[in-house]
Amino acid sequence: MKIAFVGKGGSGKTTLSSLFIRQLAATGAPVVAVDADINQHLGAALGLDEADSAALPAMGERLPLIKDYLRGSNPRIASVETMIKTTPPGEGSRLLRVSEHNPVYDACARPVELDGGAVRLMVTGPFTDSDLGVACYHSKTGAVELFLNHLVDGPSEYVVVDMTAGSDSFASGMFTRFDITFLVAEPTRKGVSVYRQYKEYAHDFGVVLKVVGNKVQGQDDLDFLRAEVGDDLLVTVGHSDWVRSMEKGRPPRFELLEDVNRLALRRLHTAADATYELRDWERYTRQMVHFHLKNAQSWGNERTGADLAAQIDPGFVLGESLTALAASNFRLTPTV
Ligand SMILES: Nc1ncnc2c1ncn2[C@@H]1O[C@H](COP(=O)(O)OP(=O)(O)O)[C@@H](O)[C@H]1O
Ligand SMILES: [Mg+2]
Repeated sequence: MKIAFVGKGGSGKTTLSSLFIRQLAATGAPVVAVDADINQHLGAALGLDEADSAALPAMGERLPLIKDYLRGSNPRIASVETMIKTTPPGEGSRLLRVSEHNPVYDACARPVELDGGAVRLMVTGPFTDSDLGVACYHSKTGAVELFLNHLVDGPSEYVVVDMTAGSDSFASGMFTRFDITFLVAEPTRKGVSVYRQYKEYAHDFGVVLKVVGNKVQGQDDLDFLRAEVGDDLLVTVGHSDWVRSMEKGRPPRFELLEDVNRLALRRLHTAADATYELRDWERYTRQMVHFHLKNAQSWGNERTGADLAAQIDPGFVLGESLTALAASNFRLTPTV
């Protein structure tokens, strides 16, 4: 299951994604945690100290390796240089699983021990001014998008992405890559304005968008969110002393998290699991192709000097049966 946390800066994306990751880990589920937020804090929120956080490998600096591995023997992708962040997989491409060893995890993921088990953490690396706002070849989140576009995940295994809601993810199509998107909103006008913008983009793409109210202090806050986002409001979270202790560098054991907040996390978990039956790999592949063509036209063809539309394998549909076939050493064939 692929899950995104988006929202305004400071709304609590990183805090809530880290709690959700802890919740998943506590159930023993395999988890890949991805920090794609402008402010890279997910490692710290998962309990890493400054030195360990600073030592995390940046996906954004390992794009050539990621592309080279994923390209595999796909004849439609002539070189790493012509592979852009939206280049879709096709026959010959290498696909990824949540639980496996592969060179992408070796290069980009590090284990983080949590109560209940270890998760893999991957980070885009710090953003600079040149990373923001533009759909560019070297985009840091491009590494995450390539990862998601080559990932074949099943139920009860999770990729959780702490992500900035911004023009980059809308232009590249990254916002369509998730089974469910949790939009974290404080009960303020600014908090819900990001929701409105997201909802508008998401509308035509079948994006499952749920609002998680954060720092909600009472009935008035709750009423405000209800009035602004209606049925999209999934659950609300109040101030957490557990979070505060964690931020002081004294992380309590996860089982000491306040009951009401634990309940909220279970609601998120249930909501995420429930989207599995909505999953449509054909639509997922089609959207990948849609955004690839868009990016090819707007900058990719010019940047690479190639006709990137030719990278699309018309018969290819990403899906869970593909890795089952690969595992038994069959030639990859499209699913119907
Ligand atoms: N439910 C909460 N209880 C206590 N503190 C919170 C809560 N949610 C967020 N915070 C605090 O608010 C600040 C911003 O949260 P953060 O998760 O970093 O936001 P974002 O990732 O959206 O920028 C942090 O200091 C965090 O600890
Ligand atoms: Mg953050």
